[in-house]
Amino acid sequence: MNATMPQPLKLSTFASHRWQCRWRTGLAAGLVTLLAACGGSEDAKNDPVNPPVVVTHADAKVWDISRAMGPGINFGNMFESPSEGEWGLTAKPEYIQAAWNAGFRTVRLPVRWSNHAASQFPYTIDAAFLNRVTTVVDQLLARGFHVVLNMHHHRQLDGDALDAGEFAVDEAILEERFVGIWSQIGHHLGSRSDKLLFELYNEPHGRMTASKWNTLADTTLKQVRISNKERVVVIGPASYNDPYALGTLTMPLDAYLMSTVHFYQPFAFTHQGATWVTPPQPTGVACCSAEQANVIFNGIHHAKYWSDAMGYPVLLGEFGAYSAADMTSRVTYTRLVRQSAAQANMPWAYWEFGSSFGVYDPVANTFRAELTNALIGN
Ligand code: BGC
Repeated sequence: MNATMPQPLKLSTFASHRWQCRWRTGLAAGLVTLLAACGGSEDAKNDPVNPPVVVTHADAKVWDISRAMGPGINFGNMFESPSEGEWGLTAKPEYIQAAWNAGFRTVRLPVRWSNHAASQFPYTIDAAFLNRVTTVVDQLLARGFHVVLNMHHHRQLDGDALDAGEFAVDEAILEERFVGIWSQIGHHLGSRSDKLLFELYNEPHGRMTASKWNTLADTTLKQVRISNKERVVVIGPASYNDPYALGTLTMPLDAYLMSTVHFYQPFAFTHQGATWVTPPQPTGVACCSAEQANVIFNGIHHAKYWSDAMGYPVLLGEFGAYSAADMTSRVTYTRLVRQSAAQANMPWAYWEFGSSFGVYDPVANTFRAELTNALIGN
């Protein structure tokens, strides 16, 4: 290639750049072009080798993965409880097989790492716990699943009350520890196939404001990239991964990213009777009227518009209705959300496998047929 020709600006080139760029987002015909308005010297601005224009969007590989993910299920209440089993479920091999047989092809694995790492630098993850999670990740990958491994319920980070059995660490090292934990996960699992995705944090909220989260996600990603150059990393917006908060999310300058949203609207329906919600939502709410269906369609399509505009796939990482709702309504709701996500070409993962939203009854060891059919069937 002629050395004087303008070359595409590589991310590594940009990262080591000696001048600062401000980013401006221009929306044009559904495409976002990020123009770097660089405030460096004149010769730098005119540098033909590093033109100050960058188009950023997900690499084709990320889109391929998003299309290959298929129906997804959250293995919830297993590893995101203070310790595995405390919330009634462990990640049994027979659940992996059952989920596969039912037709699920992605498992999102929520993990409460914060409870299993030292409180002092270098924040070493408990070896037995790391090996246990690794075993399950490997079993899932060997079965053929895409696996979305996340960091879940880091209560102190969001400023929430701790659960029984949790410990607090020195406030001053909270974020450094978060990054340190991810650095270890990255090194430990860096050799796994592209079917393993890392999701940096479930539902940042509270004192993890959008601006704090954008900074922390960027710093964490840089650490993860040391050991996982092209692994897909999933980053959702603050405000509990609300699709309507996507506009507050600054995607780091990286081509191997996906975003994620959680969608529990209409909340009065999905969370009726849920013990952890304040104020409690009264029971007896049905779904789905035309108005409720609109709320669902609009929320999911809001995420799709962001995805189209920004050029990154969006995973619908959680949706579901608590068991206090009537089954007929849950089935209708579940089918409607799944169909809306399919229409928006968004991969999805239902919340969750075998607990209070569950598609699987772990006592009878069978799937709840209607609910499962709403996800996998027509
Ligand atoms: C939380 C669960 C909760 C679910 C629905 C998840 O992100 O981790 O504890 O049951 O959302 O509210």
